[in-house]
Amino acid sequence: MSKSLVAFYSRADENYFKGTLKMLDVGNTEVVAKMIKELTNSDIFKIEQVNPYSKDYNECIEQARADQRENKRPTLKEYPKSLDDYDVIYLGYPNYWGTMPMAVFTFLGHFDFDKKIIKPFCTHEGSGMGNSERDIKNVCSGAVVKKGIAIRGSSVFNVKEDIKKWI
Ligand SMILES: Cc1cc2nc3c(=O)[nH]c(=O)nc-3n(C[C@H](O)[C@H](O)[C@H](O)COP(=O)(O)O)c2cc1C
Repeated sequence: MSKSLVAFYSRADENYFKGTLKMLDVGNTEVVAKMIKELTNSDIFKIEQVNPYSKDYNECIEQARADQRENKRPTLKEYPKSLDDYDVIYLGYPNYWGTMPMAVFTFLGHFDFDKKIIKPFCTHEGSGMGNSERDIKNVCSGAVVKKGIAIRGSSVFNVKEDIKKWI
């Protein structure tokens, strides 16, 4: 039987939550990623860069913006060995400056997504999916990119029913 994979990027540390800066033990996208894993019985993989952004929110904002401006591809700690076993990839990320963190571009550029189904989910603070769905289509030629779901970072603990419907 074919399996699905939840691949996600998420940053804990200092983050906006309900309008104020707060230290999070688990990032918002990671909460949703684990929910999707449970609901779909998928494998799960966390996309992590070798040099993580700062724990300080404002510094992180600037680092991520610089990487985006320079179209960087941050080096990742590791990759899944292969995506061959997976027909469906649930791809999760926070909205960073209107699209995905650059490390997610690194991840997508590493594999051949021809004929794979990608279901994007994103957490954000007001910008929704931004340009991310378009960007995924550009990077993953041949993939079928389904309509994504955007979730407010502060609502991640109350979205199980919405996620079920979207799945
Ligand atoms: C570097 C950076 C850039 C961000 N840019 C945006 C943005 O353009 N639009 C938006 O709605 N939220 C933006 N946010 C807020 C995050 O998308 C939101 O807090 C998200 O839930 C964080 O997910 P995480 O905890 O899984 O990392 C940004 C946050 C960071 C750290």
